[in-house]
Amino acid sequence: MKFYITTPIYYVNDEPHLGHAYTTIAADVLTRYHRLKGDDIFFLVGADEHGLKIQQKAQKEGKNPQRFCDEIAAKFQFLWNNLNISNNIFIRTTNLNHKSTVQKVLQTLFDKKLIYKGEYEGLYCIGCEEYKTKIQLINEKCPLHQKEPELIKEECYFFKLSNFQKKIIEKIQNNEFKIEPIERKNEILSFLKKEKLEDLAISRKNVKWGIPLPFDKSHTTYVWVDAFCSYLTGINWQGDCKKIPNFWPPNLQLMAKDILRVHATIWPALLLALNIPLPNKLFIHGFFTINGQKMSKTLGNIILPIDLINKFGVDATRYLLLSQFPFGQDGDISIEKLEKKYNSDLVNGLGNLVSRVLTLAEHNFLSFSDNNDIKKDIQKTLEKYEKTMKNIQLFETLKIIWNLISFYDKYMEEKKPWKIKNKPEQLNKILSSLLEGIYHLAVMVLPFMPETSKKIFTQLGVKFKNQSIEQIKFKIKKDENLFPRKK
Ligand code: MSP
Repeated sequence: MKFYITTPIYYVNDEPHLGHAYTTIAADVLTRYHRLKGDDIFFLVGADEHGLKIQQKAQKEGKNPQRFCDEIAAKFQFLWNNLNISNNIFIRTTNLNHKSTVQKVLQTLFDKKLIYKGEYEGLYCIGCEEYKTKIQLINEKCPLHQKEPELIKEECYFFKLSNFQKKIIEKIQNNEFKIEPIERKNEILSFLKKEKLEDLAISRKNVKWGIPLPFDKSHTTYVWVDAFCSYLTGINWQGDCKKIPNFWPPNLQLMAKDILRVHATIWPALLLALNIPLPNKLFIHGFFTINGQKMSKTLGNIILPIDLINKFGVDATRYLLLSQFPFGQDGDISIEKLEKKYNSDLVNGLGNLVSRVLTLAEHNFLSFSDNNDIKKDIQKTLEKYEKTMKNIQLFETLKIIWNLISFYDKYMEEKKPWKIKNKPEQLNKILSSLLEGIYHLAVMVLPFMPETSKKIFTQLGVKFKNQSIEQIKFKIKKDENLFPRKK
């Protein structure tokens, strides 16, 4: 089965931070899970490189905007490589193909009379690259950026967003266009039913750093319209609405709640206008704060993803971020909490279990006996694992895996295999149970911690190719502990 998954394409006005890493790691976990299932997967990440925010930042640094974007986009790519993100493409909105396709889209909409010229007066938040309504402001400021938006009055082109409101409500309601978790779906439906969607200003006259409108070169394209097209240009769409690449539509688009509204209004409206099928599902996760506060430079509480990688390693960073709180809810993280979790779950949990079992098995294991006592527990865990992974409950999935680890710890304490070295058959049976468990643990943690999983397979002497456990011949070779203990 084909599976197309996307993260948002992130703005390159700033370096990648932990929020970006959070979404991207989650998407990579799901990607690797589907790959393991044998799905034909395409995983898109990318960079959103146009707009006033970037134009101004580049100017401030005295750089040409393209060079500025190249530098920051390279930092994103570097981080994704470091975090072992297995994306198929890193789409950039400054790519030539992307730009010409966006122009084709605009021309199509213009020809369909879905774009018209008018005048816009509104409050514009540069931080969000979005016009704001009064209701969205708190004390006249954008609540996200703590800045008063600018009053802008200018000639511009509008997209007939209002034409599509009814259709969007219908598609969300009947789950043709799924929005999860359910609270997010309800929230967006109640917004769509209460407020009338205004036509959308899709061009700017005084923003030079953008894609010129094909029918009026004195305007550039609104960044969100530009950015949404990347979900299509990233799979190599050339702008012909009758020739949509095979991977379309996305099975899953991941993002945080900050950009749900645009993804549930402008995005489906553009697709409906072009007669292109809507994505199957948007999954919205929460925001995290650091020690109860929003991450910000002024508060000085920024944790860079690279700091975590240096401190804990790549796999542990991936694990630690997703094991803090349920994906889909808001939550808080702190270095102290991450350190504690590293020690309890990775060093003393998975690492210690694998090390103890393999130390014993290296000298005492004879051959795999399928007749062991914990098959049922593994089966139950595997079922729960599949269910939670399918529901994108990544935090719950990890809990389920770590429950199995505690179960094995208890099993060992109970059976005390180190005391029966003189009863090789009995010992072999226990070791078989434990090795089978460790094999399945390695499979289950693979999407989350691919390198750790590989290390476990190597120590088990098994080449992992989705074999059934009966066919596996273990050739144990204990190596160093999976996770070094931190002082
Ligand atoms: N460029 C647009 C997206 C265009 S998609 C067609 C954009 N970029 S962004 O750089 O601001 O990224 C927003 C996304 O970053 C969020 O939706 C989320 O995925 C991630 N996060 C940023 N900060 C976050 C937290 N503090 N917590 C969790 N995720 C966060 O919007």
